[in-house]
Amino acid sequence: PYRLYTELRDTPVARQEDGSYVVSTYREIVALLHDPRVSSDRRNLAEPAHADQDALPSAFIGLDPPEHDRLRRLTMRHFGPPHSPGKVDAMRAELLEIITGLIDGVAGRARADLVDDIAYPFPVTVICRLLGVPREDEPRFHRWAEEIVETIGPGEGDRDERARRRQAAVLELGRYLGELAEAHRRDPGDDVLSGLVTDQGPDGPMSGTEVITTSALLLIAGHETTVNLIANGMLTLLRDPPLLERLRREPDLVVHTVEELLRCEPPVHFLPQRVALDDIAIAGVTIPKGASIVLALASGSRDPAHVHDPDRFDPDRPYIQHLGFGGGVHHCFGAPLARLEAQIALRELARRLVNPRLVTDPPPYRPSSTLRGPRHLDIEYDD
Ligand code: HEM
Repeated sequence: PYRLYTELRDTPVARQEDGSYVVSTYREIVALLHDPRVSSDRRNLAEPAHADQDALPSAFIGLDPPEHDRLRRLTMRHFGPPHSPGKVDAMRAELLEIITGLIDGVAGRARADLVDDIAYPFPVTVICRLLGVPREDEPRFHRWAEEIVETIGPGEGDRDERARRRQAAVLELGRYLGELAEAHRRDPGDDVLSGLVTDQGPDGPMSGTEVITTSALLLIAGHETTVNLIANGMLTLLRDPPLLERLRREPDLVVHTVEELLRCEPPVHFLPQRVALDDIAIAGVTIPKGASIVLALASGSRDPAHVHDPDRFDPDRPYIQHLGFGGGVHHCFGAPLARLEAQIALRELARRLVNPRLVTDPPPYRPSSTLRGPRHLDIEYDD
């Protein structure tokens, strides 16, 4: 898609046929991410389409301040590691134990699918443990979560049909999490869901619906994004054996490698859900009140006006700045966890897989235009 972004940036703010505006340059995207006249709440659209109405109210990702801030603060209080510095080491050890188990599982097999065997189960196991969702229920919510993310924003197929599929998945996931929240209320444990249902602090309590939408957001965001970062990362390394070898010798290089991946091969390409609350003049264009705004994050991170030689993957850049986690009040809540997960996974894969080779290049990709990553990543390696 990157050639398309080069063309897109010729018009930093471009009106589409359907009346929405696509913003593709770094400076303009950052300005709009921080502009209080830009809402994340689809109810502010001039003509809210039926397909935009979800079966449940929005989680805080789809709300504006002050409701957004209250729910985000409340959730932050219970998310714990790695947000509280003292707990990062414990978290690191736990992540290492999980990834070691997964890599042990494929060792000696000479062949693996890095998505199904490693990149997917790793963040899922982590977010389930943090939230207090039984890992064995994963096959049940996996399909709902996938359905929900694959129907975000524009895509292939009939719009109403996509909306119907989305509603069904939202309702089923909501019912599942509602029952689970009830069980945690009766018998709280040391997990995020228990924290959310029992909180009586200044921002609490959360309503039953708020608990459901918040935990659904964490569950989906926590396991549909990091998988792509790890898979995109492994694909980049497998195509660049000298870099893979360097990472093996210099494990600390993984920190900058992950940042450069978030810039060059980000899991989230677009934020399709913003709305103008007023007429907004930007880059010679006036976005009218009520219009839909699409922020092309992946394009902004490769804007040559902002980054030197933007299409070159270079973890040695002295300063890596990207839009991989968005920005402003909605800046990714899980960024510290996602960074830690990706760093540990890539470092361990580089260290332990001997002479890994891609079986199919390019690999098959997931169907979503918003979230980008391989569906499968088949590799062979020596024992
Ligand atoms: C928000 C990316 C991992 C939880 C966001 C946003 C982006 C993003 C671009 C901004 C959305 C917007 O402005 O509309 C990513 C990427 C990840 C990742 C690339 C992995 C590599 C995670 C994880 C969690 C998480 C692991 C869960 C713990 C959230 C939440 C929000 C968010 C709750 C909404 C924040 C708010 O509205 O205040 N993420 N994310 N993310 N992310 Fe992540």
